[in-house]
Amino acid sequence: MSTPSDIANPRLAPEGVRRIEWAAREMPVLRLIRERFQREQPLRGIRMTACLHVTTETANLAITLRDGGAELRLCASNPLSTQDDVAAALVEEYGIPVFAICGEDNETYYRHIHQALEHGPQLTMDDGADVVATLHKDRRDLLAGVVGGTEETTTGVIRLRAMAAAGALGYPIVAVNEADTKHLFDNRYGTGQSTVDGIVRATNILLAGKTFVVAGYGWCGRGVAARARGMGAQVIVTEVDPVKALEAVMDGYRVMPMAEAAKLGDIFVTLTGDINVIDRQHLEAMKDGAILANSGHFDSEINLKALQAMSEGKRAVRASVDEYRLLDGRRLYLLGEGRLVNLAAAEGHPAAVMDMSFANQALGAEWIAQNAQKLEKKVYEIPHEVDQEIARLKLHAMGIQIDYLTEEQQRYLASWQEGT
Ligand SMILES: NC(=O)c1ccc[n+]([C@@H]2O[C@H](COP(=O)([O-])OP(=O)(O)OC[C@H]3O[C@@H](n4cnc5c(N)ncnc54)[C@H](O)[C@@H]3O)[C@@H](O)[C@H]2O)c1
Repeated sequence: MSTPSDIANPRLAPEGVRRIEWAAREMPVLRLIRERFQREQPLRGIRMTACLHVTTETANLAITLRDGGAELRLCASNPLSTQDDVAAALVEEYGIPVFAICGEDNETYYRHIHQALEHGPQLTMDDGADVVATLHKDRRDLLAGVVGGTEETTTGVIRLRAMAAAGALGYPIVAVNEADTKHLFDNRYGTGQSTVDGIVRATNILLAGKTFVVAGYGWCGRGVAARARGMGAQVIVTEVDPVKALEAVMDGYRVMPMAEAAKLGDIFVTLTGDINVIDRQHLEAMKDGAILANSGHFDSEINLKALQAMSEGKRAVRASVDEYRLLDGRRLYLLGEGRLVNLAAAEGHPAAVMDMSFANQALGAEWIAQNAQKLEKKVYEIPHEVDQEIARLKLHAMGIQIDYLTEEQQRYLASWQEGT
């Protein structure tokens, strides 16, 4: 029987396989977990729905879950991030049902989520909580069968915590994002590099000497600011949190409100998880030729409705670059339709960081399957030991050794009586 799916083109599978194998080279921690999963089958017979960016790294996670015994269905967590060759490879070569097509419209996006839920999942895996939201809104009949889920990103965790606080969350969730081995590396180094990569691939502009505005100095913003500065840009940070703003100042960046930064920037990137961070009045103040990108989870950080309303026309000038001609004659360039630029215009995070994020996903799924009976309907963090183990495995794979506390040091650090 053929694998159920809705993908762009099954003939792309051989290219997808080659790229999935290339990513696997940089994912040693996930490989070790996969080998154990093959032996121990911790997810045997468990129906899972995963809603993740369909990339080469996700493919390696999907294969790991399948090898752990899961009956997995995969759909996209963003309409523009699907790599069609990877989707083809998963269906044709690895026998994993995928419902995802790059560039799908909103209706198809949600139809695919529904198709991925059709087998009645016991575990869900989200990146932005769209599966949880769909289950709670449209498929409440399936809720009773779900024992737990995992969530990948900051924005999803915020949504799920709000649901839990309102007593609306139907099953327990493990917040993968909260693991140190996730957000300290994926959000900072992964988003940092791949966001700059997306901007450069889309535009081929020289960053050196440009004024580069980063909105939000959280984990993602820190990474992007550091990388942009490393390539010679003059970086301005905008923030609403005084502590983060102070940190940005002391890290050596100029900090100011967006209303000021809007007049100065050549390139703008939003990474806040917030809405209308670049709003109409900011668009009105920008220089002719300014470039706008978003790397936060949703395409709500730049006020696209205002941009449309202010424009007399729009045309695609390069792949992933739309030129908006404003009524006053200025032109603004929007990358990747305001969706995650690192996925829309590049390939998402490098495999080496997704190795740790997806190790957390795999172990989080295993933990929730093992503990489902004991858990409440709330958001849990990844157990500390799992985090430590992932870091230890990653260091081992990188050939790096570290010190261990001596018994004397353990005693000293645990004691309040010992002084100098
Ligand atoms: N592009 C990717 O691949 C990728 C990867 C990981 C996370 N994300 C997403 O990126 C976003 C940021 O994630 P994070 O982990 O850095 O979150 P974070 O909470 O660490 O940082 C967000 C920062 O934005 C600031 N902020 C909020 N509203 C603002 C405003 N109006 N103006 C300026 N600053 C504002 C907050 O004070 C905070 O410091 C989330 O939506 C997350 O889901 C994207």
